[in-house]
Amino acid sequence: MAYKILVTSQKGGVGKSTVSANLAAFFRRRMALETTLIDWDSHGSSSTWLKQAPQVGVVVLHEHLPLDKGGNRPILEARLHLRRAASSSEVVVCDLTWSDAIAAELMFEFDLVIVPTSVSEIEMATTAGFLARHRWVFDSATLRSPTLLLCPTRVTLEQLETDMFSMQRFPVSFMLAPPVLESQTARDMFQRGYLMDARNDCGQSFLEFARAVCEVRDIHNRNAALRTTRAPVGPILGRRNSPLPGVPTASKPAIGSGVLAQATASPQHSVLGQHRQRKVLEKEPASLAARSMTALGIPQFLRRMSRTAVDTKP
Ligand SMILES: Nc1ncnc2c1ncn2[C@@H]1O[C@H](COP(=O)(O)OP(=O)(O)O)[C@@H](O)[C@H]1O
Ligand SMILES: [Mg+2]
Repeated sequence: MAYKILVTSQKGGVGKSTVSANLAAFFRRRMALETTLIDWDSHGSSSTWLKQAPQVGVVVLHEHLPLDKGGNRPILEARLHLRRAASSSEVVVCDLTWSDAIAAELMFEFDLVIVPTSVSEIEMATTAGFLARHRWVFDSATLRSPTLLLCPTRVTLEQLETDMFSMQRFPVSFMLAPPVLESQTARDMFQRGYLMDARNDCGQSFLEFARAVCEVRDIHNRNAALRTTRAPVGPILGRRNSPLPGVPTASKPAIGSGVLAQATASPQHSVLGQHRQRKVLEKEPASLAARSMTALGIPQFLRRMSRTAVDTKP
């Protein structure tokens, strides 16, 4: 079954297309997985990137979603595109600028929703508002929610010094990816190459981000395998997520335990991830560094993350 990733946010210019194109290239070339990119943006930036850059074997689709039609039309079309792509791929990455005309139910079609956001206060407020409006999707008690991964993008070295994510209250369970750094390299690579090949901080930060996404996918796959081995044998009716009346569902792994605990305990899942840890360690001896992480709010953040359900809903 293909792993379906939606890269979205309401704001332009945050790095959705850059992340989408480079993540798709990473999955194909580094992970050797059959990968499709669906570009739902009229600008076609991510699809153009992959078509013009040295070929890595990603299947690239630039599709139109009838967002102006409203109602269920965009979802039905999106489902069609996804089904077609998923039949021949192991990973599908979709690039979409979100608009309020899109019904939030579209997100349930995905295993993972990545929301790139810069960490300036004004952008964080916009992101918080976007997540507040879609909270019911990510905290749904009845349907299997996609995992929400916030990806700080275009982060400057200066911004690594402040922990915006512990200051800003987000109204929803989420995981936090290591930041992708702001760099001219990201602009220069457009149509020419891939961030995973950049031998500088920006390239390194992208690799850490991409590996974190792979880890989230691994968790998803392990949980899916668990569900398969524990699921009762019986007719499959209705939505994949709807528990059948009277039929017990596979038991959920406890949040914060097992594979999820391993992931949330990993410092690379904190907002400033290994970058800041490295910076702190450079400045201070180990014991002081540990205290600094506390002062910077990282443990509180990790606690908040441990509420996050990665594909643990029935
Ligand atoms: N990490 C980065 N560092 C510097 N510039 C970036 C980075 N990511 C994206 N950009 C630039 O920001 C602009 C918007 O990026 P893009 O990926 O098109 O965002 P979106 O799809 O959200 O509109 C582009 O000019 C792009 O080259
Ligand atoms: Mg774009």
